[in-house]
Amino acid sequence: MKIILTNDYNQMSAVAAEIIASEIKSNAHCVLGLATGSTPIGAYHLLCQMNQAGIISFADVSTVNLDEYVGLPADHNQSYAYFMRKQLFDRVDINQANTHIPCGMAQNLQVECEQYSKLVSTLGVDLQLLGLGSNGHIGFNEPGTPMDSFTHVVQLTQSTIVDNSRLFDDISQVPTRAISMGIADILHAKKILLIASGANKAQAVYDMVAGPVSSNCPASFLQLHPDCTIVIDKGANSILQFE
Ligand code: GLP
Repeated sequence: MKIILTNDYNQMSAVAAEIIASEIKSNAHCVLGLATGSTPIGAYHLLCQMNQAGIISFADVSTVNLDEYVGLPADHNQSYAYFMRKQLFDRVDINQANTHIPCGMAQNLQVECEQYSKLVSTLGVDLQLLGLGSNGHIGFNEPGTPMDSFTHVVQLTQSTIVDNSRLFDDISQVPTRAISMGIADILHAKKILLIASGANKAQAVYDMVAGPVSSNCPASFLQLHPDCTIVIDKGANSILQFE
């Protein structure tokens, strides 16, 4: 794992945006694996600015997102499909037909999961962006998820429901299930870029980098990936104390 320590959220976002932009510059047809949550918003904003300034183009880029809530339609303001349009897709020159997000409204969720895993492996992710759950989850792969998991329906843990409830009017509105790429889908990407900011991620960062490789901390499986970069800020580094 390569660790890049930054001062704060803004610097973390700038470093992440640069890494993503150089991937696009080196391969205009690249496939990006994308993440939601508050952490990538700053990096997405910078990528939008670079696109508007003509520094990068998404015209030939394809994307696959990590996850989506079960039961939220794509136009629901807390769905990850809506988030991606608002934070990135509607603001850059991407062909929206080349953007992919699991469908949380699929009648047959099992079939949706199998098809999504196949799509991810057929497209082949060049660079996968990840956030980090405070309990060490990546995508929605909660503690206990095995390394050989593919896209599957997840029962969200109470801690994730509580973490994510800040974005909903009421905790009772937070979906209890999601579709998520599995650990195996994620590890299949050629490169991985994980970003984490703030002291509430410090324990998960420590377990991911310095802990044993174990499904107790799904992010620790990234230790096994040959090209994984972690960009953290001071708060997220407060237990690991990487220098
Ligand atoms: C959600 C998402 C993850 C994300 C995590 C952290 O559960 N499924 O992909 O990494 O939350 O979110 P945040 O960046 O808001 O802390």
